[in-house]
Amino acid sequence: MPRIFSGIQPSGELHIGNWLGAVQNWVNLQRSYETLICVVDLHAITAKYEAESLAQRTREMATSLLAAGIDPDQAILFVQSHVPEHSELQWLLNTVTPLGELERMTQFKDKAQRFESVPAGLLNYPVLMAADVLLYRADLVPVGEDQIQHLELTREIARKWNAQFGRGETFFPEPQPILTEAKRITGLDGQAKMSKSLGNTIGLLDTPEEIWQKLRPAKTDPARVTRLDPGTPEICNIYHLHQYFSSPETVALVAENCRGAKWGCLDCKRVLADNIIATLKPIRERALGLQEQPERVDEILGDGASTARRMAGETMREVRDRMGFLMAAPPALSSRVQRGLES
Ligand code: TYM
Repeated sequence: MPRIFSGIQPSGELHIGNWLGAVQNWVNLQRSYETLICVVDLHAITAKYEAESLAQRTREMATSLLAAGIDPDQAILFVQSHVPEHSELQWLLNTVTPLGELERMTQFKDKAQRFESVPAGLLNYPVLMAADVLLYRADLVPVGEDQIQHLELTREIARKWNAQFGRGETFFPEPQPILTEAKRITGLDGQAKMSKSLGNTIGLLDTPEEIWQKLRPAKTDPARVTRLDPGTPEICNIYHLHQYFSSPETVALVAENCRGAKWGCLDCKRVLADNIIATLKPIRERALGLQEQPERVDEILGDGASTARRMAGETMREVRDRMGFLMAAPPALSSRVQRGLES
């Protein structure tokens, strides 16, 4: 069975961009593929963050993923830092990764502008991503469009490692991306990608009131200044969102009423808000239930980490061997007795 790996940062709420672009796909694919889903806390610390809330945000992200339909009986859900082999493989892969490739990554160039002194972790972010995927020798990686460049680099790293250490074999498969139709959801500002760091999101667990308060001021077709101006739905982000949350009949009605200036933008947004609220209601309810039992979420993550560690351990034994490291011998019996490990 082909193997899928994907990850998400616990750097804020799970939003409808993540959901439409990636998480929905994970939920659908977990039935047909061996699936690993990772909350990537080691990636989240490459941006400014609060240590006091990292653990809580990690648990919340796992809770949201479970509420969105990740099923621990079908997928392995775990936290990246619970499997130390991610960091180990990242270090090893650093040694075959060209610096120039890291420097030309679009996300690195964007994010580096937010720092006066750019941390090396930000530059090496895509190597950790490569380690995530290659550690499980995954074949497929369902992601949004913004991760495509990182995956191209992952394939290049796999090729370079295989050429140098693969002993003539393709030890690391070259993972291919899987995109959805919603590969790049625009934020409520109507311009940038919907993103936790830009505050232009609708959260998967937002209340009906929060959803409406966020949608009300959202950008629409800029040519529609008054209610009487006919609009062009194709250039309106609200219309695009209708395509993911409303029935085909409603989408057709929205287009017709926009072009004919029969609805104002607020009318159109109200219908969208109602449909988003209805779509997200069961997810929100499941999340509220899970929030009552954090120990259940921790238990699921514990099980996931133990399975992931076993898989990661198998890969790393091969990797260390192929890279020529001296294998650690088990401690001699006498020293075990001295340390009280055996009588
Ligand atoms: P992250 O946490 O930014 O986002 C998680 C997933 O959501 C997708 N996504 C979007 N899709 C469509 N429209 C949007 N506006 C939108 N915003 C986010 C992302 O493409 C992603 O699939 N580096 C990754 C996490 C990661 C990873 C990995 C992914 C770490 N290791 C290994 C795959 C494989 C990230 O920051 O995603």
